[in-house]
Amino acid sequence: MVVYYSATGNSKWIASLLSQKLDMPMVSMLEIMDSKDPQRYITDREKLIIVAPVHAWYPALFVKMFLLFLLVHEIFFRYAYMVFTCGDDCGEANKEATRLMNIIADKFCTAFSVQMPNTYILLPGFDVDDEKTRKKKLDTAPERVNQIAKCILDNTSDPQLYYAGHAAWFKSRVLHPMFRKFVMKRSKFYVTEACNGCGICQRICPIKIIQLNALRQPEWNKTCIQCLACLHHCPQQAIQWGNQTQKKGRYVNPFVKT
Ligand SMILES: Cc1cc2nc3c(=O)[nH]c(=O)nc-3n(C[C@H](O)[C@H](O)[C@H](O)COP(=O)(O)O)c2cc1C
Ligand code: SF4
Ligand code: SF4
Repeated sequence: MVVYYSATGNSKWIASLLSQKLDMPMVSMLEIMDSKDPQRYITDREKLIIVAPVHAWYPALFVKMFLLFLLVHEIFFRYAYMVFTCGDDCGEANKEATRLMNIIADKFCTAFSVQMPNTYILLPGFDVDDEKTRKKKLDTAPERVNQIAKCILDNTSDPQLYYAGHAAWFKSRVLHPMFRKFVMKRSKFYVTEACNGCGICQRICPIKIIQLNALRQPEWNKTCIQCLACLHHCPQQAIQWGNQTQKKGRYVNPFVKT
């Protein structure tokens, strides 16, 4: 089965292409974790394919939460694969994936990656892709998915289908912990007067930490996993982060609803 986590739709879209190619059901991690009876969703224990974004050259935190959930519920698989989506490169996220997936599968086969439009915009120098780059990534992704699906069907790996990028060790082992400590621990979200109280941000937050106040404006009461779903999905572009995001673009995958 194909299980996905996706903040802005890229991983959901890749999961849907893979699920068609592999003829396997696709389920959202959130749906499984919200369910009172998770075993009901796990119809096939042969192959687990997780599709999720890379966050700061590591598997997105939510993936770790999901794998712990499987462990607690004693849900194990025979084979497991990880398919990362990333804006540029994944660093050594594959090594952490190996460590995590080995806990819930007899055999972790390999990690793959698919380059998709970038969603990270919180630090200076990071923005969404321009139109041309975005289109090129969306156009080339399906062929990459075909190649990945072939490997999964044959139970083989192909190092060409995972892109670590330059200075992978440094990014995952040095920059990632710094990112967790100095960027993720601090919440600088706020809302501007453009907010119309629609509540989309509250509904879309995967860890449910957004509350709407009496004026129906969001409040972030706790620090979060910084998936940026709320920021990119706000139809009014009313959600900002410190002084970094006012002039930056927003992005949601055009082919799926999240
Ligand atoms: C907090 C955060 C960190 C990110 N870190 C990376 C990264 O280390 N390398 C990379 O290539 N892309 C990075 N990205 C971009 C996303 O991995 C990429 O756009 C992904 O396809 C988004 O998937 P989604 O739409 O399923 O959430 C990051 C995005 C976010 C929000
Ligand atoms: S999604 Fe945007 S407009 Fe809607 S409630 Fe949240 S901040 Fe306000
Ligand atoms: S508050 Fe926004 S960025 Fe943080 S976890 Fe929720 S949706 Fe993601």
